[in-house]
Amino acid sequence: MKHQKLKCRRELAYLTLGFSAACFMYMVLIQYNYFKVGNEMYPPPQVDFADRVTLGGPALPSAVDARATITSSFVGLKEAIRARVIGGAIVLVVVDSGYIEMAINLHRTSFEKLQIDNYLFVGIDHQVCSGLRLHGVVCVTHEGFMGEKNSDSNWGSTEFMQKTHFKTRVVLQGLQLGFQVLITDVDVVFFKNPFPYFTCSDCDIEISNDISEGNSGFYLARPTSPARTLHASAWEIGKVAGDRISNQKALNRMLENMQMKNEIKIKFLSKYLFPNGVDYFESGHRYFADSPACSQCVMVHNNWILTKAAKVYRFKETGLWLNDRHQYYSSTDRKYILFANPVNSSYEDIRKLEKNALYSALHLAKLLNRTVILPRFHSYKPCTFCHDHPLNSHYSIASFDKYVGIDNYRENSFLSNPLVPSGVVQSTSPQLHIRTRKVDQLVRAQRYEIDRLEETLMLNPSNLTLGPSRGEVLAFCAPYSHVSVLRFHSLYGVYEMERGHDMGAAYDALISAAFKRGQYRQL
Ligand SMILES: *[C@@H]1O[C@H](CO)[C@@H](O)[C@H](O)[C@H]1NC(C)=O
Ligand SMILES: *[C@@H]1O[C@H](CO)[C@@H](O)[C@H](O)[C@H]1NC(C)=O
Ligand SMILES: *[C@@H]1O[C@H](CO)[C@@H](O)[C@H](O)[C@H]1NC(C)=O
Repeated sequence: MKHQKLKCRRELAYLTLGFSAACFMYMVLIQYNYFKVGNEMYPPPQVDFADRVTLGGPALPSAVDARATITSSFVGLKEAIRARVIGGAIVLVVVDSGYIEMAINLHRTSFEKLQIDNYLFVGIDHQVCSGLRLHGVVCVTHEGFMGEKNSDSNWGSTEFMQKTHFKTRVVLQGLQLGFQVLITDVDVVFFKNPFPYFTCSDCDIEISNDISEGNSGFYLARPTSPARTLHASAWEIGKVAGDRISNQKALNRMLENMQMKNEIKIKFLSKYLFPNGVDYFESGHRYFADSPACSQCVMVHNNWILTKAAKVYRFKETGLWLNDRHQYYSSTDRKYILFANPVNSSYEDIRKLEKNALYSALHLAKLLNRTVILPRFHSYKPCTFCHDHPLNSHYSIASFDKYVGIDNYRENSFLSNPLVPSGVVQSTSPQLHIRTRKVDQLVRAQRYEIDRLEETLMLNPSNLTLGPSRGEVLAFCAPYSHVSVLRFHSLYGVYEMERGHDMGAAYDALISAAFKRGQYRQL
C-alpha cells in the first residue's frame, strides 16, 4: 500500500507538469492491482504519446555520462539518442526491472569490455534506470509507456506482447533521426563489436536468424525509407493487435509483405557468426565455461530456453556472467563445498544417486554454513555421444532457485570465473571422502575404487546407515574451517533423503521441492 501511495505521490508531480490524464489512469490501474503482478506488467502503449524520458532516481555520475547532454529532468528520447550516437550509429536496449540483472550483465560482458560507448538503455518502468545507473549504466526512463491512456485490454495476458512492441517504437525514433540502430535484447552477450559485421551496406535490415524466421531480439536497421516504413507499420500492427501478436510476428509479417513486393532489402545474419541459443549452446556443445570458445562468434543470443532463472543459470555456467551482485563472485568471507559425481553414467540408477549426492551436499552446506558449488551431472538417458550435463538438463532452475535460494548455491564453473578472488580459488582443503553404506555397495559392485583414491582423507562415521551425525561432521571439518573451498571426492549416500535428519522436516520438504524435474530447454 505504502509503495502505491509513494508512486501516486510521484504521479502528483506529473500533474503539475500537465500529466493529469496520466495520473487518473494510474489510479485506475492501482484499482485493478495492476502493479501487484510484478515488473512484467505494463499498460499498452498509447496511440499518440510524446516519447518523454526522465532521468529519475539518483543523478548520473558525471564521469559516466560525460558525452550525454541528458541533464534536464525531462528530455525527449530523441535527444537522449542523439547524445549517445557515435559515427551515426547506436545500440538501443529496452529493459524493465524484471531484467535488470541481465541488463547489468550485458553492459559488463559486452559494452564495457568491448568499449562500445554508443549504447543507450531505455527503461520502461520507474525503477530500472535508477538501479542500472548505480552500476554506471547509461539509461533513460521512457515515460510514454507508463501510466498513460490505455485500452480496456486484459493486462494479464496482453502485457508481454505490448511491451515487446515498444521496442519497435524506440527503433523508429532512432531511424527518424537518421541513425543506424542496433536493437538488442538483454539476454545477449557480444564477443566482438558487431558493427564491422554489418556488411550489407545497401540492406535496410540485417537481422539475426532464429530457427525459422528473423529474430527481432537482435537486428540492425538502417535509416532508410523502407526501414522506417517497416517500423511504422509494425508499430501500427502492435497498436491494433499488439495483444494478440508478438513484436517479432508483427515485424516479420511486415518484412515478408514488403519483401514480396520488393520494397525492402533484408539480410539474415549468419548463424555461424550470430548464433541463437540452440546453435551456440546445444549444437556447439557449450555447457560449461571450459567448453571450446567460439572464435568466429560475434555474439550469442541466450534464447530457446524458458524462464529467466534458467537463462541466468546458463549464462553463469557457460562463463558468460560478470554480474557480481551482492558479491556473488568476489566475496572473500564466503566458504564453499566442492564435490564431484565420479560414478559413470552406465550405473543403472544414476539419477537417484546424483540427486542424493546433491541433497547431501546441500545438507552439509547448511550444517557448515557453506555454499554448494554444483557438480557436473551425467546423462540420465542412453546416449551415444555422452557429455557432462549442467543442472538444467535435469531439474527446473526456477524451482531450484525458489527453494534452495539463488544465493545459496554456485554454478559448477564458479571457481573459473575471473571475478572470484585468487585467494579463494587457492584456499582448498585436501580431498575428503565420507564413507557411507552406499559407497560400500558401489565398491562391491565395482563402480568405485576407494583404494585407488590417493591423497584422499577417509572419514568414517560411526553409523553408516544413519550417515555422519552433526557432531561428526563438525569434527571432521573443523581442521578446515578457515579454508575457502572444502573439497569432497564425492557425496553419494551421505544423507538419505527419505530418512529425515537433524535439519528438521521443514528443511527437508524445502529441499525435496527444489528437485522438480526439468529438461534442458526447461519447456
Ligand atoms: C556464515 O557465513 C557467512 C559468510 O558467508 C558469514 O557472514 C556468517 O556470519 C556465517 N554465519 C555463522 C552463523 O557463522
Ligand atoms: C564405466 O562403467 C563401465 C561399466 O558399465 C566400465 O566398463 C567403465 O570402465 C566405466 N568407466 C569409467 C571411466 O570408470
Ligand atoms: C545405526 O542407526 C540405525 C537407525 O537408527 C540403528 O537401527 C542401528 O542400530 C545403528 N547401528 C549401529 C551400529 O549403531
